[in-house]
Amino acid sequence: MKSSTAIAHPNIALIKYWGKSSITGNIPAMSSISLTVDALESKTKISFPNNLNEDTWILNGSKQSSLERIKMPFNELIKRSNVRDACLIESDNNFPTAAGLASSASGIASLVTALSHALELELSLKQMIELTMLGSGSAPRSLFSGFVSLDVAGDTITCNTILEGNQWPLEVIICVTSFDQKEISSRVGMEISRKTSPLYNNWVDNHQKDFQTAMAAIQSRKFTQLGTVTIDNCLKMHQVMKTSHPSIDYWNETTHAVVQQVQTLQARGREVFYTIDAGPQVKIICQPDLTEEVVFEINKIAGIKSIIECGLGSGARLINA
Ligand code: PMV
Repeated sequence: MKSSTAIAHPNIALIKYWGKSSITGNIPAMSSISLTVDALESKTKISFPNNLNEDTWILNGSKQSSLERIKMPFNELIKRSNVRDACLIESDNNFPTAAGLASSASGIASLVTALSHALELELSLKQMIELTMLGSGSAPRSLFSGFVSLDVAGDTITCNTILEGNQWPLEVIICVTSFDQKEISSRVGMEISRKTSPLYNNWVDNHQKDFQTAMAAIQSRKFTQLGTVTIDNCLKMHQVMKTSHPSIDYWNETTHAVVQQVQTLQARGREVFYTIDAGPQVKIICQPDLTEEVVFEINKIAGIKSIIECGLGSGARLINA
């Protein structure tokens, strides 16, 4: 056992997962497609200091009272090794945590990558996918670069890069509309939706069609087709959320204003589209030559807290191997 550090980037879902088929394995009830982004990053360092009495997780410099959402993949990895020494997990995000920027996906992917290496476990890709999924249903996607699919077909789960970022270099402009942590975590929210939304079954039953349309659009690099299905899938997920009891609405006034601005840009013939996850931030996807114009327009909106320009990024990796 040794010290080890890994980094991973968040991923932004174009075709969303919202709902689980199994709580124990944290298995998504549907397939999803995402973009791994380069500008945001989670870094996790694993070490085993002699003077440590219990497993300790420090997130962005603050000691956490429990292992919380990293507990399942952490315990499972420890169980597979002979190591019984107390472990120090130091995680840092260079962006707001738990605000709908997929910090859990990149955090878990960097944790599993660093910890499996520190414990000297030789894991297959399939095992890495299963272990990251224990922490967050979208985390396996952060193991991979570029355009990523997480295909759930019954018990068979596969996760792959569909296209590398340099094969279709789109830009993702993240419009941060609030730094607040969300009140309802995605884990809790999706269970509420599964149990209470009248739209939930329809959402699950018709999801594969969106997945296939987006796959075909990515493979043939058809921007408009990808944009249409992405927006449609995003709005369907938010309808499922809103029709849940209690109703879940992650959007704020600025979220609405950004969406309206994207519609204005589209009406001007600009190739842009947006997506929104379990939080109020809007992610705008465009060709690189439009970034400047999009950022200029978004900056005019009152309530915008910050704009982060991203290209497509690499999968999780060790940085001190
Ligand atoms: O991976 P989780 O449990 O944080 O859930 C992710 C949920 C969404 O971001 C809303 C959609 C997705 O596929 O990433």
